[in-house]
Amino acid sequence: MNLRMITTQIQRKFQCTPLRYPGGKSSLAGFFDRVIQSQGWKDITYIEPYAGGAGAALSLLIQGKVARIVINDYDPAVYAFWKSAVEHPRAFIKRIKNAPLTVEEWKQQKAIYKAKNLKKMMELGFATFYLNRTNRSGVLDAGPIGGMNQTGKWKIDARFNRDALSERVRLIGANRDKITVLRKDGVEVIKEYANRKDAFFYIDPPYYEKGAMLYLNAFNHAKHQELADVLNNRAQANWLLSYDAVDEIEKMYVPQGRLAETFSLRYSVHHNTKSGSELMIFSDAINTSLLPAS
Ligand SMILES: C[S@@+](CC[C@H](N)C(=O)[O-])C[C@H]1O[C@@H](n2cnc3c(N)ncnc32)[C@H](O)[C@@H]1O
Repeated sequence: MNLRMITTQIQRKFQCTPLRYPGGKSSLAGFFDRVIQSQGWKDITYIEPYAGGAGAALSLLIQGKVARIVINDYDPAVYAFWKSAVEHPRAFIKRIKNAPLTVEEWKQQKAIYKAKNLKKMMELGFATFYLNRTNRSGVLDAGPIGGMNQTGKWKIDARFNRDALSERVRLIGANRDKITVLRKDGVEVIKEYANRKDAFFYIDPPYYEKGAMLYLNAFNHAKHQELADVLNNRAQANWLLSYDAVDEIEKMYVPQGRLAETFSLRYSVHHNTKSGSELMIFSDAINTSLLPAS
């Protein structure tokens, strides 16, 4: 197998998730679809134990490439977003249509987000979405696009297309019977589903080096090792894992027998195995000789 296959698949992007996510993986959906088809898998339950924006999951579901998806994220804010969008899409869309796009409103949403009160699921879910769409780079702890004084070139509403975002939430609602939303530790979800024959996991944990800057709940070394132990012990389950390409991670999987390839999400070019910035690790259940070469 060569890397061209992964990188050519990421050129065609089909954006379904309402969330912006640093390092979002929507663009891998085409590659996952090729994996599913090449292995002859049918009626797949596609699981993201570290879902974030769940870009690839939604893209695969809405295109009918998988039968159902499981979206798990331990961050209460991210969980609340998925839970409220899936269970109450119409109320969520109403908020998308009506929310003022002002710094005043941004401050109120920020206060709701900071309180992280899961008893107010819709409020927290919408605040998460609002900040994700109005903050710089979609980073939840960043400031608003355009700055507090709105003097920047781009303003707070630059990434808040009400119609397009409402449509994405409507599609989520239309598929709600096929979506399970969980808030567990990712390794628990892996253990829970790993024995199911129809399960296919895409595992995208916080990065080893950059993770702490980008997301909440960043892992430490022990947590990365725990995940590696759980996955290496389940090498016969159907999973793909992506990471930043660092030696510490390779050492947790390659000597244990797993196949690892590097690739680049940012540039759709052909890399040799040392030049990509991301690592893709394959479980033994994936017969890579069946994957098309390009
Ligand atoms: C790299 S991001 C996932 C990006 C996602 N694949 C996308 O395309 O948008 C990792 C996610 O894992 C979540 N997370 C961190 N620690 C976790 C844990 N122990 N269990 C489950 N989720 C966790 C973070 O909240 C974050 O949303």
